[in-house]
Order: sequence, then structure tokens, then C-alpha cells
Amino acid sequence: MALRTVVTVGDERLRRQSQDVEKVTPEIQTLIADMIETMHANDGIGLAAVQVGELLNLIVVELPEDEEDPGSGQRYVVLNPQIQRASSDAEPGIEGCLSIPGYVGEVERATSVVVRGLGPDGKRLRLRAEGLLARVFQHEIDHTEGVLFIDRLVSPERIWAVPNGEEEKVEASQALPSKIGPH
Ligand code: NI
Repeated sequence: MALRTVVTVGDERLRRQSQDVEKVTPEIQTLIADMIETMHANDGIGLAAVQVGELLNLIVVELPEDEEDPGSGQRYVVLNPQIQRASSDAEPGIEGCLSIPGYVGEVERATSVVVRGLGPDGKRLRLRAEGLLARVFQHEIDHTEGVLFIDRLVSPERIWAVPNGEEEKVEASQALPSKIGPH
């Protein structure tokens, strides 16, 4: 396994459509392992392959363990993920992104989604996610389509500067640090 460099905003790859993974090759398995390692090393709660420069429909999601959140503490690896269904209920929440260092913003997302795709074994997979987990899936699947959270802000001023490296910790806690001011 190896850490990969996270691609940041301004890199045009983040704006491109990723392509489906056709087959789970050893290279794909290495990429998955590297993405997990890179996500952990950066305190991330999700990562899409494009964020390490690979334009493939592949995401990893892992929320830190939280007793009150049933979707937390589990790792999800989904190839060719798609939102099969999204609730009509939506809620605003705070999002950060390892590709947009130093900022978090407020984004409205469906409160629950059904995601389908393939697991790391290449078998079909379908899962239902709610709350923060649903938010992270929507954010990561956006990445596979070249969309960033800054495109979806509830309003242009609802973005804040945070210390580098804190972006996804803020998202995981959904609590804006009191010191940060509007950007
Ligand atoms: Ni992101």
C-alpha cells in the first residue's frame, strides 16, 4: 500500500466524468487499498478515485465510530456507484472535502439514499444510507461526475475557512468551530 497525493481544486481532472471500472484487477485492488490509506492519513470520511488522480467510478466511505449513528464505523468500498433513489426530504449540513483544503460549506442533501454498484469483490451491491452517511455518499458520487460541494452551497456566503486538515473532522461532527468566520 502507498499513500497517494490528493488532487486539489484547480486541477481539471476534478471536473471530469469518471469511467466505470470494468474488472477488479490487481491494480484496482491496489488502488482501493491506497485510497483507504490516503483517506485515513488525511482524516477523511470519504474519497473518490479522481481525488487521487484516477478517473474511475470508485469511492470509499468510512465514518468514525459514533454510538448514535448506525452507519458509522463501517467501511464501504463501492465501484460504479449510483444513487438509485433519493428521499424527497432534504436537510442542510456542513461538508468538507480533501480536495478543497481549508474550507467547509453548507450543502443541502437528501436525508436518505439507496446506492447501488459493485463491491470490491465485483459482486452487485445495494445499500441504504441515512443522515451523514447518505450525505457522504452523495458527495463522493458527485466527485465521480465532476461536481464539488462548492457547486451546491445553499448560498454563496455559507462557506467558512477552517484550519487545514480539519475539513472532514468538522463535517463528521457537524459543528462549526466557534472561532471560524465566514469566508
Ligand atoms: Ni470531496
